Amino acid sequence: MVWTSHPVKRLAGAIRAPGDKSCSHRALIFGGLAEGTSRFSGLLEGDDVLRTGQAMEAMGARVTRTGPSAWEVTGVGARGLSSPQGVLDFGNSGTGSRLLMGVMAGYDLTAALTGDASLCSRPMNRVLTPLRLMGLKDTAGPDGKLPFTLTGSKSLQAIRYAPPQASAQVKSAVLLAGLNAEGETIVVEAKATRDHTERMLQGFGAKLTFKAEPGGAHEIALKGGQPLRGLDAEIPGDPSSAAFLIAAGLLSPQGDVLVEGVMSNPTRSGFYDTVDLMGAGLGADERGEAAGERLIDIHAGYAGLRGIHVPERLVASMIDEFPILAVLAAFATGETRVTGADELRVKESDRIGAVVAMLRVNGVEVEETADGFTVQGCGGPVPGGGLVETRHDHRIAMSALVMGTAALKAVSVDDVSMIDTSYPEFMGHMTALGAAFSA
Ligand code: S3P
Repeated sequence: MVWTSHPVKRLAGAIRAPGDKSCSHRALIFGGLAEGTSRFSGLLEGDDVLRTGQAMEAMGARVTRTGPSAWEVTGVGARGLSSPQGVLDFGNSGTGSRLLMGVMAGYDLTAALTGDASLCSRPMNRVLTPLRLMGLKDTAGPDGKLPFTLTGSKSLQAIRYAPPQASAQVKSAVLLAGLNAEGETIVVEAKATRDHTERMLQGFGAKLTFKAEPGGAHEIALKGGQPLRGLDAEIPGDPSSAAFLIAAGLLSPQGDVLVEGVMSNPTRSGFYDTVDLMGAGLGADERGEAAGERLIDIHAGYAGLRGIHVPERLVASMIDEFPILAVLAAFATGETRVTGADELRVKESDRIGAVVAMLRVNGVEVEETADGFTVQGCGGPVPGGGLVETRHDHRIAMSALVMGTAALKAVSVDDVSMIDTSYPEFMGHMTALGAAFSA
């Protein structure tokens, strides 16, 4: 269904950031593997995360909602996961499916996996390749696309693996398989990616070791056979979801937006570092801690941004934020260049193609390159007036709706349903700030 975002003069107010998607998936997975019961507050109740919870239940964990965003998980512990009945449908979720492939690899079970049209077009060989080296069997064809069936093994062998892509999902799948493998599993990362698996596994009682390698790479090592213990934790606010609200505040002529309780983690902060380089002048106040992560409140008001060449060292730490960064670049003065971001081609959509189409249909000059894009900023409001194809991609939908709040003419999107995968309260939060959406 088509939704339209109309230009408004002022977006203002305070919003509590929704629970982090990456941490919410991991909470349900690790809780489901642990001995005892874990209790989580502030868990993201997006479709992606709920499907991870359903998959854990189908394999033997008990996953119960005890209140709004409050969940209790009783893990399988030493008994281990068992074969699910029926097909595990991961919907749109790369994180749920890839992390659970790693988990399943280490148990004596067989499971059939599938997903929606977007997930079934995404590459899974990046996860299957290392897991097969460890002992996983699967029915995937040479293209490694879902649907397929996995058969895990109780005698998985540890490996030392250097993923060719900067991917926290690949790193996590290998480490999670390593939890149940014989020997020490080592992942060598050339560029740091989000480190929630490492941090949260330690919170659940696992021991990991870290070593810096020459040339900026680092090693993460974990010995197999370690039990996890149940944990009570508050899930920190999602910096990727908060980025949409912050961008809305930066673009609004009388913007005054506060987003509370946002996780501040260097492996996730690239968007905030980049917009500061563009002249955003964001304010930040300490807000304590949740699940071992620092929390901050972030304040954004109108800022005339300047285009930049986004430093490639920041790409991995803002990999989910390029659609909304592109919107900010379209309003900025001068050119913004994104390079070294070819991983965007294999996200929920081909995000380079989707971003370029989103901007063009709204009158913005933009060039597509193999590993990024170059935006010619309008130095003020973009023309707008376009109908954006969301291509099953929640972040394209939210970016286009934010663009409409400050464009000269309203911006429409062809489908808002995917927003529920990561940020079900997005429309409500934006409306509370003063956005004007119509169906
Ligand atoms: C995620 C890792 C990233 C990110 C995704 C969540 C995670 O994917 O884009 O939204 O929770 O591990 P890649 O591993 O493909 O970079």
